[in-house]
Amino acid sequence: MLAKGWVRTKRGNKQIKFIALNDGSTINNIQIVANTELLDEELLKKVTTGASLAVKGKLEASVGSGQAVEIQASEIEVLGECDPMRFPLQKKDTTLEYLRTVAHMRLRTNTFGAVLRIRNAMAFAIHKFFNEKGFVYLHTPLITESDAEGAGDMFQVTTMDLKNIPLDKKGNVDFSKDFFGKKTSLTVSGQLEGELGATAVGEIYTFGPTFRAENSNTPRHLAEFWMIEPEMAFYDINDNMELAEEFVKYLVQYALDNCMDDLKFLNDKYDDGLIARMQSVIGIPFQKVTYTEAVEILEKAIADGIKFEYPVHWGTDFQSEHERYLVEKHFQKPVILIDFPKDIKAFYMKQNEDGRTVRGMDVLFPKIGEIIGGSEREASLEKLEQRIDELGMSRKNLEWYIDTRRYGSVPHSGFGLGFERLLLFVTGMANIRDVIPFPRTPKNAEF
Ligand code: 4AD
Ligand code: MG
Repeated sequence: MLAKGWVRTKRGNKQIKFIALNDGSTINNIQIVANTELLDEELLKKVTTGASLAVKGKLEASVGSGQAVEIQASEIEVLGECDPMRFPLQKKDTTLEYLRTVAHMRLRTNTFGAVLRIRNAMAFAIHKFFNEKGFVYLHTPLITESDAEGAGDMFQVTTMDLKNIPLDKKGNVDFSKDFFGKKTSLTVSGQLEGELGATAVGEIYTFGPTFRAENSNTPRHLAEFWMIEPEMAFYDINDNMELAEEFVKYLVQYALDNCMDDLKFLNDKYDDGLIARMQSVIGIPFQKVTYTEAVEILEKAIADGIKFEYPVHWGTDFQSEHERYLVEKHFQKPVILIDFPKDIKAFYMKQNEDGRTVRGMDVLFPKIGEIIGGSEREASLEKLEQRIDELGMSRKNLEWYIDTRRYGSVPHSGFGLGFERLLLFVTGMANIRDVIPFPRTPKNAEF
């Protein structure tokens, strides 16, 4: 048979060499047995960690422990040599921090091989899940004029000469001279366009890159991340919660069913609670709790001596330490938080009768905190317009969105799952930079 791949390790003695070869398709190497009586010694010297080989030989049951089969090499061709003095991955155990400094080569490691394969399996499972439910995959624009989340942390897109920006008579930037004739940015969410799709074909989802220029240098934030945003006509908040729970459980189960070799590797190497934690979220219903009840729980915890870095009182946005306390300590299961103060959530969320909360929902996971954010949407034209005005947003730029409420408005809901947050959960990696092949974070956009 013929095997091609990269050398992970070479060991042995003068007569016989054992080469661990890997082609990236699995975490498991194939053992190549190279006998110096059959093979040129000078050639075998070129078989170093990182070199690429094509090996011809016989596949046989292995006498050694650790592998079921091995290839008795009859012919080895070194396709690409790899200078052991310069190869950045030659050290046996390289830390994740070090690997980030050689991010262009880190994909060749066992760890990133495992992460990339799991990432691929999750992307496939997401499409499979929605496809089986009859959802339409909707492609929403990456370049947009709307700030869907109203947070203002958008990357501007322009072809204007930054040294010579056209100004209007009042001295403001004249965007009519820009490529699109208006001010545009990279999208922070496909939701608003998703609502156009859902109110046309019923149930849609988006799955694409998302950009946020928030200067959060945390292990859970990227400036460029991928988000999955289902949006469903005729769903209320309860239908929405049900779908979100079913969805993440399906994905975790899919990883357990299809990625066990990689999961075992990551479990052993980085996080010995990984597989148990994944199994634990599948078996139980998530805990539903209102924001107001959660504040009471956290206030009681503080009174009992629990220390948080950030304060909590009704009206504040929770930090991940609070979310993790609720999930890991108090309830010991995933939590779905609902009914948030309207002032900490986006303009489009359905307003509750109490006049101060909205029908938002956040799904919180162990070790991660928020993994999903969503809501039932405000379906009333009047209330939506009123909220847009209250927040001082421009109605003019949102007329296309408001039309969904003018013409055949329906109750509808949706949510966004952060793909890399999901991957943190199903790989056990601690830093979001290690679950995306080419991370973009403040001051870092290599390659
Ligand atoms: O909670 P967010 O901001 O919600 C929205 O964007 C809604 N439009 C979603 C919707 O209802 N269709 O973001 C959704 C999820 C978060 O829960 C988190 O998992 C992830 O996106 N996320 C990030 N992931 C990585 N880096 C960042 N900077 C992220 N910001 C949000
Ligand atoms: Mg959120």
